[in-house]
Amino acid sequence: MRGLLLLLFLASLLFLAGAQTQALMDYLERRLLAIEDRISTWHEQTNRYATELREFKQQMVGLLENLDKDRETLRVELGGGSAWDGGDAGRRAPRDVGQLVAESRRKERTGQVRPSSRVRRLRGRNTDHIVTCSVPFPDCRDMISSIKAMKILKRVGGAKGMWTKDTGRSSAKVYIFNGTSGEDTLYEFSSVRDFTASTGMSRGKPVQLPFPWGGTGHTIYNGYAYYVREGAEFQVIKYDLQNGTVADSAVFPARDQVPVYALTPETYIDLAADEEGLWAIYATRENENAICLAKVDPETLDVEQTWDTPCPREGAEAAFVICGTMYVVYNTRQASRSRVQCVFDVGEMVTSDDAPLVYFPKRYGAHSSLKYNPLEQLVYAWDDGYQILYKLAMKKKLEV
Ligand SMILES: *[C@@H]1O[C@H](CO)[C@@H](O)[C@H](O)[C@H]1NC(C)=O
Ligand SMILES: *[C@@H]1O[C@H](CO)[C@@H](O)[C@H](O)[C@H]1NC(C)=O
Repeated sequence: MRGLLLLLFLASLLFLAGAQTQALMDYLERRLLAIEDRISTWHEQTNRYATELREFKQQMVGLLENLDKDRETLRVELGGGSAWDGGDAGRRAPRDVGQLVAESRRKERTGQVRPSSRVRRLRGRNTDHIVTCSVPFPDCRDMISSIKAMKILKRVGGAKGMWTKDTGRSSAKVYIFNGTSGEDTLYEFSSVRDFTASTGMSRGKPVQLPFPWGGTGHTIYNGYAYYVREGAEFQVIKYDLQNGTVADSAVFPARDQVPVYALTPETYIDLAADEEGLWAIYATRENENAICLAKVDPETLDVEQTWDTPCPREGAEAAFVICGTMYVVYNTRQASRSRVQCVFDVGEMVTSDDAPLVYFPKRYGAHSSLKYNPLEQLVYAWDDGYQILYKLAMKKKLEV
């Protein structure tokens, strides 16, 4: 009996253990299945990721190839391509004057030139792309953000003229070029204060130049007066103000010149100084709708490089250059508010699209000259006989 009971007990124990083992086995099996499921999901995901990665890689290779092609096209264009073709206002290739003239002639013959497509104003352009080739002046990155203040200093002389300080080195002296034709005597004042205190030109020291000047395109730079001699040829004179001699002169190497600003027709070449040196703003018959820009060596008067710009002559009254960027100021024939409405950056960092539309405060009439002084970040303006100073607020290029 005892033995039977023990047997029964053992049997039930075994049964129980068997049931437990079964439950355990079931449990383990479920877990394994779940893990298997998960593993296969991971596997699927990994496969998907791998496929996506492959596709992405292929896309990148395609993009890189296109980029290479674009770069090659750009390189070819910079070596002598056209700046005016199609809608690519962003591509402005530097070329020498001869090439420029020849190409412009060729285009005229082949009817490739559509003046309207060459005229690109500040607003309303959308397809302009920034081309960052070499940045010629890496340290000079200022651009105008607005006109901070203005000061009307005096009214001396006639409706048209030009006044400036030395734009190349620090000096208190100011120089007045009254008139645009038949004049050969500029006036030097020891300071702006002296100038404003003067009755007419009475306190000024007359400086007689060897030849009369034409227009308002003169500049004073590092102790020299650079001006365009009045006459048939466009001769640039470099005059040493210290010892009163002609240091150099050169015929400007562009043919068939036309007035550079439609609203200031006396000026054919506008010499402008900025942080980087000397520039000449001009226009030729070959391309008479738009303004050209040239970099000039202040030592030798050699033209180093020229650019076609998209800035129209029509409606322009003056221009100036800051850090390699030309700002063209427009007005209307019935003088209203002057505004910077076309910008051209030789370094391609600023396009007209990202340059602010800068309005000048309304004054008397039209500006016959606007001379930027890089040492003071002031613009010396001549407005209907008034001598005005504009103080500029700057920002950094690319900081849009
Ligand atoms: C300035 O030039 C104008 C002609 O443009 C002349 O009538 C005037 O007398 C000149 N003024 C002075 C102060 O030289
Ligand atoms: C005038 O000064 C320059 C240097 O500033 C000099 O090279 C030149 O010979 C001088 N001319 C005369 C006539 O003194």
